[in-house]
Amino acid sequence: MSLRLTVLGTGYLGTAQAACLASLGFEVLGVDTDPRRVHALGGGVVPFHEPGLEPLLQDGLRSGRLSFTTDYARAASFGDVHFICVGTPQATGSYRADLTQLEACISMLAPLLERRCLVVGKCTVPVGTAALLSERLSLLAPGAELAWCPEFLREGHAVSDTLRPDRIVAGVGSARAEAILRDIHAEPIANGTPFLVTDLATAELVKVAANAFLATKISFINAMAEVCEAAHGDVMLLAEALGHDPRIGPAGLRPGLGFGGGCLPKDIRAFMARAGELGVDQALSFLREVDAINMRRRARMVDLARELAGPAGFDGATVGVLGVAFKPDSDDIRDSPALDVAKTIHDLGATVTVYDPVAIPQARNAHPELRYAGSAIEAVQDATVVLLLTEWAEFRDADPELLGKAVAERNIVDGRNVLDPARWRAASWHYRALGRPLFRAGRSRSRCTPGPGRCRLRPVAAR
Ligand code: UGA
Repeated sequence: MSLRLTVLGTGYLGTAQAACLASLGFEVLGVDTDPRRVHALGGGVVPFHEPGLEPLLQDGLRSGRLSFTTDYARAASFGDVHFICVGTPQATGSYRADLTQLEACISMLAPLLERRCLVVGKCTVPVGTAALLSERLSLLAPGAELAWCPEFLREGHAVSDTLRPDRIVAGVGSARAEAILRDIHAEPIANGTPFLVTDLATAELVKVAANAFLATKISFINAMAEVCEAAHGDVMLLAEALGHDPRIGPAGLRPGLGFGGGCLPKDIRAFMARAGELGVDQALSFLREVDAINMRRRARMVDLARELAGPAGFDGATVGVLGVAFKPDSDDIRDSPALDVAKTIHDLGATVTVYDPVAIPQARNAHPELRYAGSAIEAVQDATVVLLLTEWAEFRDADPELLGKAVAERNIVDGRNVLDPARWRAASWHYRALGRPLFRAGRSRSRCTPGPGRCRLRPVAAR
């Protein structure tokens, strides 16, 4: 008989996990303590923006293999395997992870587990958490065993990352747990996804180490952007050249406003905090610098915007902001660099109008003091400076002439390095970007060398 699975916690991770497992043919019960969320998901509505997830959810519901509940007792009697997908945010006033949701989940589930089952942690936790939970579980539910199988999905790609992961890491304490996890992941394994078996601690560490590495790579290229700004180099060309080295690679080397979201920032901080507890804080002290470089990009963005606003700075300036989600294809504004910049500039006295294709309700809720527009054109109306802060496709493809007709002055800062400076300059925009030399409007001295890579611009000298 096929295994019956529960997924506890139905955020980005849990909802994707539940819908994908149902699409693979498993019977799945999604569990959440929030009745509104359970009601929405049970009705086929994903209460956040994640491309491709809603149709998969609806397929699962229609097939009868997927359902949702708030009832932990039902989950306990239903599941052969329970996936723990609750959030582990940054604790208030500390770098440490807040494990309240995880502890509550285990406390509710464990006493109800009467039959033999596997409990599988998917969320990101400080190393050592699984060992403690395993002890607790063996006291409360002797038939239950704990495994740790971290999730590596990216928001905006949750479905493909879950169905076709780069790797599956199975932290297990027994051959039985390994066999169950192999069974559940049979399809990706058959398609060539590596399946790595580890102890619990290593599995927990793989996840935080991966996020620490990704954050470091982004901050590395952003540190190079700082150097480029001082040395009149071009970080886009630098990144392209570095990325051709197969030991470095181009992925995660996009310079700009830096990383945000509910994962990388809090994970590097929790990793540092845990290293301190383990007495190896020096090993991760570089992550403090990774964090600092990341935050400096936001400050630099504000400075560039102020420069373009003119001699009076933000006093009386009208700033149009394109994008507030922490990345495109997501409505997540947790630790969003874009929203942080918009809010700072508002606090410095500018009138800030924001547009984002999907994240406006979330942003408005968090920052009602900002103005919100229904389109990019509306957001930049009469603006003295335009800021592109999240690289949604509709902003990447924006027509500089069209936007130019709406603004008061053609000044733009490309916070994600996605616009073609030559195109915007040709339309008489003052184009500025993080880590790139000055590109002045109205001159046509920069050239594009055709080739497989991106446009290779030769910058004109600053006036
Ligand atoms: C990240 C990891 O990429 C996932 O592997 C991991 O599973 C997830 O965290 C998690 O821990 O759950 P995610 O937060 O969805 O995924 O976003 P990323 O695509 O990694 O982007 C993070 C931030 O870095 C975004 O703000 C993005 O704009 C920025 N970024 C990314 C750059 O500034 N430059 C880059 O080259 C790449």
